[in-house]
This record gives sequence, structure tokens and C-alpha cells, in this order.
Amino acid sequence: MTELYPIARLSAMEATFHARNPGLGGAYAPPADKSITHRSLLLAAVAGGTSVVRQALATGDCRSTRSCLERLGILIGEAADGTLSIRGAGLRGLAEPAGVLDAGNSGTTMRLLSGMLAGLPLFAVMTGDASLAGRPMARVVEPLRAMGARIEARARGTLAPLCFLPGTGSLRPLSWDLPMASAQVKGALILAALRAEGPSLIGGRIGSRDHTERMLGAGLGLGVRVEGGRLRVEPARAVPSFEILVPGDVSSAAFFIAGSLVSGREIVVRDCGLNPTRLAFLDVVRRMGARVDTSEEGSSLGEPWGTVRVSPGRLRAASVGPDEVPGLIDEVPLLAVLGLFAEGLTEVRGADELRHKESDRLAAVIRLAAALGGRIEPLADGFRVEGPQRLAGGTVDPAGDHRIAMAAAIAGAGTETGVRVTGIECAKVSYPEFVRDFQSLGGTVA
Ligand code: S3P
Repeated sequence: MTELYPIARLSAMEATFHARNPGLGGAYAPPADKSITHRSLLLAAVAGGTSVVRQALATGDCRSTRSCLERLGILIGEAADGTLSIRGAGLRGLAEPAGVLDAGNSGTTMRLLSGMLAGLPLFAVMTGDASLAGRPMARVVEPLRAMGARIEARARGTLAPLCFLPGTGSLRPLSWDLPMASAQVKGALILAALRAEGPSLIGGRIGSRDHTERMLGAGLGLGVRVEGGRLRVEPARAVPSFEILVPGDVSSAAFFIAGSLVSGREIVVRDCGLNPTRLAFLDVVRRMGARVDTSEEGSSLGEPWGTVRVSPGRLRAASVGPDEVPGLIDEVPLLAVLGLFAEGLTEVRGADELRHKESDRLAAVIRLAAALGGRIEPLADGFRVEGPQRLAGGTVDPAGDHRIAMAAAIAGAGTETGVRVTGIECAKVSYPEFVRDFQSLGGTVA
């Protein structure tokens, strides 16, 4: 029997995080990129042969994607070193699942897989944990219905569980303007458009992380490209099988980069993904007074990777506006933490999408600061924080949200007494060895 609410219930482990002299830093490699792992698994599942995925992220959200694919009949072999061999079923070859598909805590699994299931000749039901069941799904359901897919969902088509009714395997071409910058929604529509009867055009706010289009276009040579400010997706006869080496996740590395800034010690991040649509946090870190050098050393399936070196300076405030937010969407909680330690007024605007993440992350960072005796001013679409603040330390309850839990631990690295975090296990959703890396980079966890 599958456990439907594992992550939110994992709240037992409490630990205090701090980092005395010399602070958090040194050289290290972050865990594999979550977004690229999801897409590697999904594309391999619909490819025309056996694909090989090296260094995939194996826990949390990506395990949800893997187990959904296995329920859809995909055979996944795993070597001793974690390398995955995935036998693709072709674009229309997923099998009707005998049970419910459980996306766990993972919005990426639910949304991207919706694009792959839409209009297939099968019946499927997909749900997730309590957090995912509260996240908006009309943003994928509506455009997929416009392509002819029959999808039913709770709360008049807006919330999971989602129910996919059998179709013909093909869809109508899509012409759609994205009202929000979301790579999950954009990716879902691209994946569905591969099975359309003609070219699809996706416009509006397409400026989010570009892994789906990059891996399909630059990586696999399929007809997915930006033309006149819109994404044009040609239907594919087949997706070729492939090999990929998943690079490190720059969003996971961002935690220890922030840790190095608040504790004043250099950090070197090796084997790190350097996709340009993921690097806005590094630009902000530069504006906050650090020296940041990146060097590209290779690429796999269109995804560049290399080394990031960050030398902290005197931490000063920075402003981030709506144009920059999509490029650092997962790093916004860290900007709140950095703002508490930086000199001057740090402001983030245009970040209302944060209200629809694993928790309402704008509300969460206000609570995080308050729990430590600090203050962040809430705004409808962001926050303002005047620093530096003297934080008393304290206990943060991240309510099962992995990025809030890790941001709180990183705040601990800048305080005298450290920060206690309840339910730190939820970090496993994106960062299986967060506690180990916190310690090996010079911090203490007690
Ligand atoms: C992701 C897209 C982003 C991001 C998430 C991963 C992806 O979500 O926050 O962690 O892999 O496509 P949205 O598309 O909802 O902005």
C-alpha cells in the first residue's frame, strides 16, 4: 500500500545548525539537479530505445517521478553506482496503470507528467501529498483541455487528484499564452505538443528555466525552438534514446553559497549545472558584494556544467524585481535570509508565484525571521528587509517545506547561537545529504 503523505509527516528530527570560525566553505559537489533528473526520467520513458541516466537525483521528488513511470509500465534498471537504464515505451506507449499515480510532494512530477498523459489511450488518476493537493493545477489542465485532452480534477478542475480519460494518443496543436512564468507548466505543454497533429505555439511568460526545450532541442535535435518571442514545438515522430550525465543542482548549491556569505568564507562548487536560466541568484550575490567566478567545463544533452567560486565580501543589500524572479525562483527564501545579514534595504518584488510552492514561501520567510527575533516586512508580491539584524536564534518549524528548512539552517550559520530546525528530514525532497554537507563544509549540527 502506498503512503500518500510521507513528507509532511516527517517532522520528528530536530537539530541545531551553526557554524563558528571559520564558517561554511571549502570545495564540494552539490547533489544532482532535480529539474534535469525529472526530465531525464520522463524523456527516457517516451524515447524509442534504452536511455542511460548517470548521477540522477535518487530521493524525494525524483523518486516520485520514477515510481509513477514504473506504474506506467516503464522498466528502470539501476547499476551499483546508481546509473539508470530506462527502456522507453515511445511517445504513445505508456501502459494504463493499475493503481493511483502518487506524485508525493512534487509539483514537477504532477505537472510534467500531466503533459505526457494528456490524450493517451488510457485511464489514469494522479494525486500527491497534502501540500501538492493544495497547489494550483488549472494552469496545466486548461491548456491541455484546449488540445482536446479529457482531464477531470477536484474543485472544478483546479486541484489534484487529476483524472485522465482515454483519448486517441494525439492532440490538437496548441496556441497558448502563459500567464505565469512556470517551467513546470511550459514543460508540460511542450511534452504534450510533441504528440500534436501540427506545430504548437507557446507565448506569454516563457522566460522560466529552459531545461525541457534545451534537452529536446539542442540535446536531441527535435523541433523545439524560440521564434519571435514564442516557443514553436513541432510534433515528433519519435524521441531518440540518449545518455545524460546529470550535473549538480545550482539551487542546492545556493544554500551553501548563502552559508559562505553569512559566515564569510570562500566556497568552491564543482560539477555544478550552469544553465544560464538558473543563474540569476549568482548575479544577485555579486550585487551583494561577493566575487563570483564561473567556468564552464562541459555539457551533457545541452546542459552546461562547471565550477562556481564565491569569495564573500562585506554583505550589502540588493533589490530584485519581477524580471529577475523566474531565474532565481527557488532561491527567494535564501534572499530573505541574506537580507537579514546584509547592510541596507533588501527588497524582492514580483515573486507572488512563491505563494504556490510547497508552502506559501512568502509567508514562511516572514515567520522564519520572526522565530529568530528578526523582522521581514511582508509585501503582496514579495518582502522588504532592513539589515543587518541581530538575530537571537531560536526554533524554526518549516512545516515540511524543504527549501524553508534548509534556508533556516543556513540562517543558523550566521548567528552566534545557531538555529534549531524541526523536521529537517524534509530536505531530502531535493537535497538528500544536506546535513552531511553542512557538517563537511565546516558547520555543526547538534
Ligand atoms: C521547476 C520549476 C519551478 C521550480 C521547481 C522546479 C521545474 O517551479 O520552483 O522547483 O523543474 O520545472 P514552477 O514551474 O512552478 O515555477
